[in-house]
Amino acid sequence: MLLNFCYSMNIFHFKKDLQESINALKSKKCTIGLVPTMGALHQGHLSLTKKGLDQTDFVVVSIFVNPTQFDNPKDLQKYPRTLESDMDLLQTLSHDKIIVYAPSVEDLYGNDVSSTHFDYDGLEHEMEGRFRTGHFDGVGTIVKRLFEIVNPDNAYFGEKDFQQLMIIKKLVEKYHIPVKVIGCSIHREKDGLAMSSRNVRLSPERRESAPFIYKTLVEAKTRFKTQSGAKITKWIAQQFSKHDLLELEYFIIADIKTLKTVKRKSGKKQYRGFIAVYADQIRLIDNIALN
Ligand code: PAF
Repeated sequence: MLLNFCYSMNIFHFKKDLQESINALKSKKCTIGLVPTMGALHQGHLSLTKKGLDQTDFVVVSIFVNPTQFDNPKDLQKYPRTLESDMDLLQTLSHDKIIVYAPSVEDLYGNDVSSTHFDYDGLEHEMEGRFRTGHFDGVGTIVKRLFEIVNPDNAYFGEKDFQQLMIIKKLVEKYHIPVKVIGCSIHREKDGLAMSSRNVRLSPERRESAPFIYKTLVEAKTRFKTQSGAKITKWIAQQFSKHDLLELEYFIIADIKTLKTVKRKSGKKQYRGFIAVYADQIRLIDNIALN
C-alpha cells in the first residue's frame, strides 16, 4: 500500500523500541518484510531487501551475529562486524522504508545464551547439520525469536544457504508461524564465487582460487545429465585433492525435498549439488540446481 506519511531510515538496538515502531506501522495496515542477516552485507543481502521492498511496505533488516549457531568460537570471533558500512549500503536502496534492528546478545537472549533443540524431520541431520554440531538449533532459535519480535508478513532467505531455507520453511510449518518464507537465488561475483560475508576474510591468493568451487559445480551439472551421483561425487573429490589452496569438506548430490544423498536418480525428483570447502580457516558453501 502507498503511505501518506514519511518515515526516515531507523535503527533500533532494543526489541521493545522496534516493536513499538512496527506496531504503529501495523496499525496503519502496513505490511512488513523481514531480512534476517548477520551483517557484513553484500549485494546478495541487498537483493533480498530489494525483493522485500517490492513486496511489502517496510522491510526490517536484522543485523545480529548469532552466537548460538557457531560451533567454532574462532569463527564467531572473526565474523566481520561492519554496522556502519551496512547502513550505508542499505541507504542506497531506501531512506525511509528500511528499518534496521541491530540488537545486543542480551536484547535477544537475556542472560541465557543457549539454543532450543528443534526437530526438522531429519533435514537437520544432513550436510551442514552433520558438520556443524548444533548449528540449526541456533539458527532455529534466533529465527523463531525474530519472527516473534517482528511478526513479519514475509521473510527472505538466500538460496546459498539452501538447507537453512528448507529448515526455516519446516520451522514455520511445524510451529504454524504466520509468515511467508521466500527463497531468493544466489548472488555471485563476476567470477562465479557465491557472495558471502566470509569472502572479505579470504587472502588475495585464496580469493583468486575460490571461483574454482563454482566452476566444479557447473561441471557437475553437465555431468549429471549422463553420470551417476556417486561418479560425480568421486570426480569432485579428485579435483579438490589436486588443489593446493582449497580443501573439500563435502560434496553431496541430494534430493531438494529430503536433502538426502541421491542413490538412484529419478526423473520425477529435483536434485542439487551441495558443497562445503575450506580456504585456509574460512569455510565457504555453495550449491547448484542440477536438473
Ligand atoms: O543466514 C544467516 O545469515 C543466518 O543464519 C541467519 C538466518 C541471519 C540467522 O542468524
